[in-house]
Amino acid sequence: MTVEHKLTRLRAMREESRQGGGAERIKRQHDSGRGTARERLDLLLDPGSFRELDAFVQHRSGNFGLDKLRQLGDSAVTGWGTINGRLVYVFSQDFTVMGGSLSEIHAQKICKVMDMAMKTGAPVIGLNDSGGARIQEGVDSLGGYADIFLRNTMASGVVPQISVIMGPCAGGAVYSPALTDFIFMVNNTSYMFITGPDVVKQVTHEDVTFEELGGASVHSQRSGVAHVVGDNETQTLLLVREMLTYLPQNNMEDPPYMATKDDPLRADPELDDIIPDSPNKPYDIREVIRRVVDDSIFYETQTDYAANIVVGFARLGGHSIGIVANQPMVLAGVLDIKASEKAARFIRFCDSFNLPIITFVDVPGYMPGTDQEYNGIISSGAKLLYAYCEATVPKLTVTTRKAYGGAYCVMSSKHIRGDLNLAWPTAEIAVMGPEGAVEIIYRRELKESADPAALKAQLAADYREKLANPYIAAERGYVDDVIEPRETRARLINGLEVFQNKRDSNPPKKHGNIPL
Ligand code: HXC
Repeated sequence: MTVEHKLTRLRAMREESRQGGGAERIKRQHDSGRGTARERLDLLLDPGSFRELDAFVQHRSGNFGLDKLRQLGDSAVTGWGTINGRLVYVFSQDFTVMGGSLSEIHAQKICKVMDMAMKTGAPVIGLNDSGGARIQEGVDSLGGYADIFLRNTMASGVVPQISVIMGPCAGGAVYSPALTDFIFMVNNTSYMFITGPDVVKQVTHEDVTFEELGGASVHSQRSGVAHVVGDNETQTLLLVREMLTYLPQNNMEDPPYMATKDDPLRADPELDDIIPDSPNKPYDIREVIRRVVDDSIFYETQTDYAANIVVGFARLGGHSIGIVANQPMVLAGVLDIKASEKAARFIRFCDSFNLPIITFVDVPGYMPGTDQEYNGIISSGAKLLYAYCEATVPKLTVTTRKAYGGAYCVMSSKHIRGDLNLAWPTAEIAVMGPEGAVEIIYRRELKESADPAALKAQLAADYREKLANPYIAAERGYVDDVIEPRETRARLINGLEVFQNKRDSNPPKKHGNIPL
């Protein structure tokens, strides 16, 4: 064979590998509003940066017609590339080849890029479009998933792992993403379930559509499994690129610094009036966040899930930060099971990857009642407490209004290693709100009063004046300073710069036992 023949053969094989499941299946993929595995990588990565690996692998021959279905590269495209010039490892499952199902060799391709990511310290991004373990391969495909799960777990907290769900994903194709840091979904064309509607019908006799069982709205609003949802594939992949701008490449690096023209000393007088005079009137904490951070840009995650707490990324003076904030607009910002778990997981992510945590506090307490108790608010609330206590990154806290009861302790208080604890003059730090407190401590007086409503109002006003303010906490040093709201940005940026070289650690141990 001449060199020219050899080159021709290579080109032909490459082309065959690039064809995936063939023109008809690619058309079906496009008709369903989805791109191919390679089209998606083109959108995700910097132009021309993708370097493919294992384009010539094939699954083993076997039963159930597998011999006839052999495909160069099998059902995944893997390799590395760059996003905004920074290295990332990627795998993109090809639904046109046996529904993107995971064969033994498909799993080996993914494991190879994950191992490389761990060696070189770079994020792994998985574009998932797969029916899960390849049924025909039996235990070899199950073992393949187990190999991936182990790597997902070992990589957790070492390199960022991002999963993008881009089609109907089932079985291992949802359990591997569940082990990663962030799950992105695409509205109307992506689904996650442990098994699809057909099997559900056989087992539970339930008739459900893809959308009802595991569409983007289910997972972004009800289950909380999805963190970010895009309107279409292109927008979703752009959101992945944007999230990476906030993250370091690995746990040994600091997050990227991005210079800004937004003045670090910028004062915002409108913040002085943002808290309503009535303590029960809500305001939007996202408005506070946007007024404080660089260029008003806040990258929120899990926006529609447990909206009583807000989490996401932003920058302050160019430094990447994670933000956790009670949202008075939703359930008065109360901490319930979902909010506690949402915030706890986000805090642990930030702590793993050296992102300082800024906490905005306006919380009436933990949510009482049988529903919450029966479903485990005690353990779920403890998760949030554990996550804050354990975190050793710089922790800066601004109490804007209520910090009542256990919620005062948990929301990054001084006592659990808050580094800089600031309060606005509108802060109310107490064991409970005035109305509840006076009913307990003045029960007899109120019972005996001729006009209990008037007495209660007077006692509550007195309580608010004496106890529900930031000055007792400031007197004890639990609040470092009471600041004018307009100064918040400047004070936080200064605090971040002071604490950026903070060193803190936890006692040596194998790992703690967070109340899961
Ligand atoms: C082999 C599969 C497959 C699989 C789909 N296909 N899933 N082949 N193994 N797991 C093939 C189909 O035969 C079909 O081939 C092509 O992919 C497209 O599938 P369709 O069913 O036509 O597509 P659609 O209607 O869009 O439905 C997609 C789907 C459905 C929802 C994913 O295929 C499905 O329910 N698959 C099984 C899902 C499942 O239960 N997986 C669990 C595996 S167990 P042709 O040749 O017709 O195009 C698992 C365990 C891991 O993963 C461990 C967890 C802890």
